[in-house]
Amino acid sequence: MQNVLVTGGAGFIGSNFVRYLLQVELNVRVLNLDALTYAGSLENLKDLPDESRHTFIQGDICDGKLMDKIFSEYKIDTVVHFAAESHVDRSILGPAPFVQTNIVGTFTLLEAARQAWAGEGIGKRFHHVSTDEVFGSLNPSDLAFTESTSYEPRSPYSASKASSDHLVRAYFHTYGLPATITNCSNNYGPYQFPEKLIPLMILNALQGKPLPVYGDGKQIRDWLYVEDHCEAIYLVLKNGRPGETYNIGGGNQPCNIDLVHELCSILDELKPISKSYKELITYVPDRPGHDRRYAMDITKIQNELGWIPMHDIETGLRATVKWYLDHMDWVEMIMKQERFSDWLEHNYTRRGR
Ligand code: NAD
Ligand code: TYD
Repeated sequence: MQNVLVTGGAGFIGSNFVRYLLQVELNVRVLNLDALTYAGSLENLKDLPDESRHTFIQGDICDGKLMDKIFSEYKIDTVVHFAAESHVDRSILGPAPFVQTNIVGTFTLLEAARQAWAGEGIGKRFHHVSTDEVFGSLNPSDLAFTESTSYEPRSPYSASKASSDHLVRAYFHTYGLPATITNCSNNYGPYQFPEKLIPLMILNALQGKPLPVYGDGKQIRDWLYVEDHCEAIYLVLKNGRPGETYNIGGGNQPCNIDLVHELCSILDELKPISKSYKELITYVPDRPGHDRRYAMDITKIQNELGWIPMHDIETGLRATVKWYLDHMDWVEMIMKQERFSDWLEHNYTRRGR
């Protein structure tokens, strides 16, 4: 691993990963390619551990010519592919960019890697970052997803990610592209765009706005602190076997309403106001096709690569709330975007109408 192309490295997990990689690998150079959609920001890349080993290019993974140029010019030997449209609610209101970036974009990147590395797989790696949502929805008594659970995606987002996973696997089997895939559960932590549950709740609470809980709030996600995800990806890059898939998860499974209560309790302690933030909780009409439960069986990555998450939900949530409280300048920059207030209007004000 010398010249690493990170796609989507100005987004939430990608920017955390770039920071992590520059810290742990002192000889690696990172080429960070990101289209800077509404979800990506250079604000996420301030204060990197070693700027001199990081190059940022604004570009689209669907641009085949640009991908070919990057592979040859920067002698890319490793790809860590995060770039995606990543928000389920947006995929329901507008699925087209999900098909374009997640499917066509991944295909374009695979083609560029195949051409650039033709016949020379040694020392190369294409790592694709995917989600547990490709497996569908679990009932309360169902066993957690394993790597051999069949795919049953139920939203345009998860269907587009499932499709990209299939393409990556096909390139391994057909062309021998040295690819690995990780399917990870819901992440949270620093730099998460405030459209996702945890930052949205923290920031709405701080503004005294309603905390919108979809449906009955009993849906379950397998929350993972983002730093743990970065470490797992790094271990797969170093020691994972080409052609293999690894499940990653936090093993923390409060339902949404319990998680929102926990966030309110932390805020009551760290930023007290005259009432409890819990009074802001408001039930709103459910998300269409809302997956009920996700849970990941992480036995494979634990046994093969020795990875387990280091943060439990209590320490992770507390660290996250503190991070947002300490980075209100970042929050202001991100929320200033006109497009974000449009989104809030679209998804919440007009909800159920
Ligand atoms: P994000 O939405 O915060 O960031 C995505 C980044 O990709 C943004 O910086 C955006 O500008 C960039 N991007 C979008 N379209 C692009 C294009 N066509 N070309 C180049 N760049 C483009 O997403 P995230 O939460 O950081 O997720 C990163 C990856 O991890 C995604 O592939 C997602 O499916 C996967 N994942 C996310 C989670 C989660 O809980 N957030 C969990 C499991 C897997
Ligand atoms: P989200 O962060 O959008 O991630 P995903 O849909 O990929 O799991 O949502 C996490 C859970 O929180 C999901 O069950 C939907 C729910 N949710 C709410 O109840 N209210 C909200 O405002 C949001 C954004 C999500």
